[in-house]
Amino acid sequence: MSGCPFFQRKQLEANKQQMKEDEEDVAQSGINKASKGGIVYGDYLQLDKIMSSQLLQSTLKGDTIHDEHLFIVTHQAYELWFKQILWELDSVREIFISGHVRDERNMLKVNTRIHRIVMIFRLLGDQFAVLETMTALDFFDFREYLAPASGFQSLQFRLLENKIGVPDSQRVPYNRRHYRDSFRSEETEQLLHSEKEPSLLKLVEKWLERTPGLEQDGFDFWGKLQTNIFEGLRRERETIEQRPDSEMKEEMGADLNKQKEIFVSLFDENRHKHLQSIGQRRLSYKALQGALMIYFYREEPRFQVPFQLLTSLMDIDTLMTKWRYNHVCMVHRMIGSKAGTGGSSGYHYLRSTVSDRYKVFVDLFNLATFLVPRAWVPKLNPNEHAFLYIAECCDSSYCSSDDSD
Ligand code: HEM
Repeated sequence: MSGCPFFQRKQLEANKQQMKEDEEDVAQSGINKASKGGIVYGDYLQLDKIMSSQLLQSTLKGDTIHDEHLFIVTHQAYELWFKQILWELDSVREIFISGHVRDERNMLKVNTRIHRIVMIFRLLGDQFAVLETMTALDFFDFREYLAPASGFQSLQFRLLENKIGVPDSQRVPYNRRHYRDSFRSEETEQLLHSEKEPSLLKLVEKWLERTPGLEQDGFDFWGKLQTNIFEGLRRERETIEQRPDSEMKEEMGADLNKQKEIFVSLFDENRHKHLQSIGQRRLSYKALQGALMIYFYREEPRFQVPFQLLTSLMDIDTLMTKWRYNHVCMVHRMIGSKAGTGGSSGYHYLRSTVSDRYKVFVDLFNLATFLVPRAWVPKLNPNEHAFLYIAECCDSSYCSSDDSD
């Protein structure tokens, strides 16, 4: 029997047919629960509200312009994502404000949510490409219908900037007016409130100030680092001086002088305060020390999660700068140098916002300026300086996923 090729082929076909029928049965199994009552997709998502919110001004004027639909949907998608970012940001700020972050176990939750914000920003930067399928001429066809509305009046965008920590003093003025002047009174209230509440920057600053190892009567990272760096620089100077006179020797000497200047300014608290007063540094002196310590000891178990957080905060700044850049490029392409519908100089105003003035965590970027050879980093004595993973292990502030929100 087994030797008959005809029979074997028939058997194979029959098996295949059976498998296909089985798969179909599985695919079709289940019961239609919706028919039994309860909430359904459209109601759960309140789609009636969302789907009926695309009101084309061109249609109202009896002159429907096809691309206005894309323009509205794109802006709405942005606003929804801004809402999600604010949701995550508020929850992270709450963990810091309530002191729950004192327990290191909550840092994972903070990191996860901040990382989610990073991923959303990544998406938002790319989303302009869809709107760019509209040509400047197509936009021109309906632009007059939307004036004087403008993205400048996006409440959520301003809340987001304030809650992350863009200071009022660093904002580029808009027609020499305050940014809040473009909002209605209840919105202004919300903006004022967001300016007064502790921003992510301020909360991270307080957390960095508590970095274990900064205590002068303990590990005294800052004191030890200063000693090591100046000792290292002194030795380098000796090595250079032993070289025969040459252009190279002069250049090396000049480089070393520059290095020394950088470190003299790093260890000068008054200089730090001056740089802070002109907006070039944003973190307190102590917080900067904590950040540098995390940077240097990032491979230590105690510092791995904090290091990831610092990295994500820089990602947020980078992606917001990219957002501003992508937006301004698109604006240039759509309206050239024309004034904006909101009344600003348009492209020129927006271009001036793509700058370090809006980088909240600028100090973290600058940490790389202070990198030194590994040998100069104070050695940790694992017996003395274990930096227990849980800073306050008996603290009851650990919150499980159920009780944190
Ligand atoms: C054709 C597309 C777009 C054009 C031509 C455009 C144009 C402009 C212009 C000229 C401004 C400066 C303010 C003014 O005078 O109006 C502005 C600001 C702004 N736009 Fe757009 N925009 C476009 C798309 C978008 C999209 C999709 C978003 C997403 C939410 C957006 C969000 C914003 C925000 C938040 C500001 C304030 C930026 C700041 O002040 O730093 N824009 N836009």
